[in-house]
Order: sequence, then structure tokens, then C-alpha cells
Amino acid sequence: MSSDSRAQVKKSISLQSQIKEQHANLESQYQAIIAAPEVKTLDSILPAEPLLLMGAGPVPISHAVSRANGVVINHLGPTMNEVVDHVKKMARYAFQTDSDKILGVSGPASAAMEMAVTNLLWPGRRALALQLGTFSERLVQMAQAVGAEVVVLNSSGIEPVGAEAVRKVLDQEQIDVLLLVQGETSCGVKIVELPEITRLGKAHGAHVVVDAVCTLTTMPMQMDAWGVDVCIAGGQKGLSSIPGVSLIAFSDNAWEAIESRSSNCPHWCLDAIRAQQFWGGQQYHYTAPVPGILALYEALRQICEETLPRRFERHFLSSKALQKGIEAMGLDLYVPEKYRLNSVVAIKTPETADSESIRQTMSTSFNVEISGAFGLDIMRIGQMGEQCRSHNLFKVLYALGMSCRNYNIELDISTGMAELERHLVLDADHFVD
Ligand SMILES: Cc1ncc(COP(=O)(O)O)c(C=O)c1O
Repeated sequence: MSSDSRAQVKKSISLQSQIKEQHANLESQYQAIIAAPEVKTLDSILPAEPLLLMGAGPVPISHAVSRANGVVINHLGPTMNEVVDHVKKMARYAFQTDSDKILGVSGPASAAMEMAVTNLLWPGRRALALQLGTFSERLVQMAQAVGAEVVVLNSSGIEPVGAEAVRKVLDQEQIDVLLLVQGETSCGVKIVELPEITRLGKAHGAHVVVDAVCTLTTMPMQMDAWGVDVCIAGGQKGLSSIPGVSLIAFSDNAWEAIESRSSNCPHWCLDAIRAQQFWGGQQYHYTAPVPGILALYEALRQICEETLPRRFERHFLSSKALQKGIEAMGLDLYVPEKYRLNSVVAIKTPETADSESIRQTMSTSFNVEISGAFGLDIMRIGQMGEQCRSHNLFKVLYALGMSCRNYNIELDISTGMAELERHLVLDADHFVD
């Protein structure tokens, strides 16, 4: 054996003994690892037959959205760039804006709300918030958390704040940002005078932020025409995509304010300028939630295919037919028609009943889920995206009626079902799936 070969063999023996030593070290660490828990399979936890999601979100997704959500591709590169370009193009249509500052947010709609608030508000800035319920209250908390001063205009009971009240505050106070929720899912109330209010905010030089989480594509939203500077949408509601990936659009005006701020955005992930590296510059910000973006792509594509006017019409007619059916059955709606949000219908819980038990019976006996509420004695049925299909309406109304009857609440179920059918027949061509 040559001296070179001998040196090689020696080197390899030494390497082997190093690896053995490292392995022995690792094995002693493995012994210190706490035992893995015993867990059930997911299949044994999930119901054999999926529940029909007829609550305030998440909502059912179409097969195309579900299939897209099962795909992972590289989050950077030409394929993803093309996907992102199309998502932005379709989102522009959904928001009705020409802005190219459209960003996806890896997180719930609350993260997109937080992106709007933390990028436009900081100590020394003042916000006016129109309070309607849980989600408008959340915007107030977020604004206060970044050190902004917040003036709150409360709705009186379930009557939303109107344009005149907003004008009075804007005439008297310096307001940098106006915060509002188009449709307050928590109580089923909509801001009736939204275009007047957003235009007022704009005319007074405020940046107008609108939470359209449950409403986008279920009812009109004209971001540019109404002077909205930031519009927020969650995936799991009006868009009928999956939860956890949200959308936000900024106007040029809002973008200038963000670019010219002297302090840094306190959130790294929610920093709009950093996020634009990915959404506008095809550069790495953080690893994008690829399946969620692909799901959003399909949800938006289906919205474009349906077109907004037809989609608004389907939502309007579906929700109205359901409301008529509920009332004809003998239950009362919580919100008077003029303030009523069609995207989430709030029903008063009958006096002798407990909403939790009714909803429980709906799930266990009829495989249909609806929502309770945050502190109010109401039950809420969602009318967003795939929820607005005739078969889903019949199923939820029947389940509600039968479950109420289970608790001795006298209802006329057949009259309610007939009324639903009567309204749907009038507009049958809108409900073809
Ligand atoms: C109007 C509105 N805004 C914001 C949110 C918050 O959405 P997420 O739970 O995805 O954070 C919701 C959720 O129900 C909502 O209905």
C-alpha cells in the first residue's frame, strides 16, 4: 500500500470514529426526549359527514378552491409570480380599484386590519372610529395599541352611525384616519351611508380604512369611487376561500403616507413596505402561504367568472328569501330591514329557548352549523359565497325549525319552507350552482 493510500485509510478510520462519537452523543440526547403523546387520527375526530357551515364564517368552499388549497409550489419564481399577478388583477376587480398596492396577508382578517392600522397610525396621529360591534371595537383597540388617539362614535343601539354625525366630528376635530366596518358580522348591522361617510372622510383629508371582511363581493364596495384608502377582506367569508390568508388594498394616497412616515412600522411581518417586496417586487419577505394564495386565486377566479353584479344579486336574493322564510316560520329578525346586513342574518333567540342548545341540535341531528353571538341573545346565519345556494338555504331553514321544535318552540315550519321556496322560485336562475 502506498503512503498516500495509508493516509487515506487512516483519515477514513478517524472520520468513522468521529461520527460514532457524535451518534453516541445524539443517542444520549434522544433518551432525554419526552415520549410522544398518544393522539387520535384526524379522521376519528372529524365528523364522518362534514357539517354544512352556515354560520358567520368560515363558509363552505368550492371544489376548485379546495383542490387549489392542496397544492404547494415554490413561493418564489416565475410560476408564483404569475399566480400573484393574477391574484392582484382579480382582487383589483373585487375591490373596484386601479391601485397596484394589493397585498396578501399571511394571517386572519385581523392581521390585515392590524396591517392597516399599524401602518397608518402612530403616536401623535388621531383616528375616528365608528363603533358598531365586536370588529369595529377591535379596530379601536388596535389603534390605541399603536399609541394613536382614538375618537369613538358609538351607534345608538343597532342604528349605525350616519353621515351627519361623522360630518360633525370631522368639522370639529383633526382626524388622520377614519376606521369603520362595512358589515358588522357580530350583530348583523351594516353602515347604511357608507359612500357618503367615506367621501366625507376623504374630503376632510382623512385616510379612510374600511373593514369589508364579510362584505367584499357580497354587496357593493367601490373602493376608488367612494374614496376608500384601505380596504380589508378575509379569505373565509365573502370571498369563500380558506381562513388564514387575507387581502388588503391601499390607495396611492395611503401609500404615500406610509412611505413618508418617519418612524418604523412596529410589526415586521405586517410592515406594508416590506410586504410589497413580495407582492410588488417578487422578492422574499417571508415564505408566502402558497396553498392559501392558490385557494384565493380560485375563489377570485370564480368571482370574476360569476361577475360582481350577478354575485351581488345572488347574495341579495338568497338572503332575502331566507329572511322571509325565517319570519314566516315564526321567528323574529334582530335588525330592522333598513340597517340589516344581508351577509349575516341575526335572529332573535325565542324567549323560552337557549340558543346554544338549538345550535347544538342543529349540528348533531341535522349536520348544519350556525353561529351564536358575542354577548347578544341572537343566532346568526351566514349568507356569504357558497352559503347562498338554494340547497343550503332549505337545509339550514329546516334544521333551524326542527331544532327549535325540539325545545317546544311553536313554529310553522312548512309555511316557512314554502315562503323560502316561493321567493327562490321567483329568482330561480340566480341559484344555479
Ligand atoms: C367584519 C369582520 N371583521 C374582522 C373579522 C376578523 O376576522 P378573523 O377572525 O379572520 O381575524 C371578522 C371575523 O368574523 C369580521 O366578521
